[in-house]
Amino acid sequence: MYLTKEEERTLNGEDGETLQKAMEILVALGDIYGADSLIPVKSAQIAGVSYKTIGDAGLEWISDLNGKVKVPSILNPAGMDMQRWQDMGIEPDFAEKQVEVIKAYESLGIRSMCTCTPYYLEGFSATYGDHLAWSESSAVSYANSVIGARTNREGGPSALSAALVGKTANYGYHLDENRVPTVSVTIECELSGSDYGALGYLAGKDVGNRVPIFYMASTPSPDNLKALGAAMAASGAVALYHIEDITPEAQKVGFENPAENIVIERSQIDEVYEEIIGGNDDLECDIAAVGCPHCSADELENIARLLESKSIEKELWVCTSREVAEKNAELVKQIEQSGAKVLCDTCMVVSPATEGHNCMMVNSGKALAYVPGMCKVAAKIGSLEECINKVGGGN
Ligand code: F3S
Repeated sequence: MYLTKEEERTLNGEDGETLQKAMEILVALGDIYGADSLIPVKSAQIAGVSYKTIGDAGLEWISDLNGKVKVPSILNPAGMDMQRWQDMGIEPDFAEKQVEVIKAYESLGIRSMCTCTPYYLEGFSATYGDHLAWSESSAVSYANSVIGARTNREGGPSALSAALVGKTANYGYHLDENRVPTVSVTIECELSGSDYGALGYLAGKDVGNRVPIFYMASTPSPDNLKALGAAMAASGAVALYHIEDITPEAQKVGFENPAENIVIERSQIDEVYEEIIGGNDDLECDIAAVGCPHCSADELENIARLLESKSIEKELWVCTSREVAEKNAELVKQIEQSGAKVLCDTCMVVSPATEGHNCMMVNSGKALAYVPGMCKVAAKIGSLEECINKVGGGN
């Protein structure tokens, strides 16, 4: 891979050990994937934040680094709401370690906003054709597919390296040739709400790590697209998808029909709603969690409307980013009047606080795919209304 003189100096350690390590990671990835050079990135989003997933080894690795990031950089969700972790039942020992992780990232100049929806935040909006180094899989999918920006599905260390160097290796989804669809998916039935998560859960299994183009009868909203991409990235490894006449690249580039077509029928989507993943059919859901990926302002508004004059008897989590919650404080207040908890900086998958429940009702295909394995809690998908009703949100 071609390196400029300045990049070579960094690789040789002349800019310090941290930048040398970062450059070594970028060059190693570039060499493995055949990149021709490094390219500048507009922002970075860094995974490896929840103490539940990185443990002491991860904390030690981050704490050993010195220096400052060169581009706006933000974090993935942490293992707890950084302000109201006690309300979540988080143990003080865990909280202490989680605070240390965030402080270690902050000392590198990274903004301590922990979210999988950086595109809602000031300073992190991306536009068509921008090169990014994002790592959370749903954010990657949204950036590539819905915005038409370009990012690989970075690991925590490679996103952090890109943030420190301000560049990433030019391979994978940064290149036109890897953005062309290789399989099509046809859905002739009408879809709404959580159907997109259920569809993504199914489609991801068939598509794997390929780039699909969808032919759809319905017109999804940006939140529907967010849910579809998140689910496909979890049940499969889809980092980029197109929808004919909807997503920007499909409109601007105009792709040819791939040779292979997958048809998904309404009956298959309905079957996803029937199943309890990771548990018996007679399990009763004792918690519901929505906001995977983190809620937009529109989603908070919809949840507030559905919870009006209702009272939650069990547990209902609504996950979002702190910035979106703060900008929509009135909606948060309305939601919490029902007894639901609006939790920021974290989510139902990366927090240890959901462990110990029997079964979680979710409206997200991604949460359906991850909760059983990562939280050891059975999961069932339903519409937003069903999630609310399941935890006693009647009138
Ligand atoms: Fe975000 Fe957690 Fe879902 S990181 S996409 S809310 S699993």
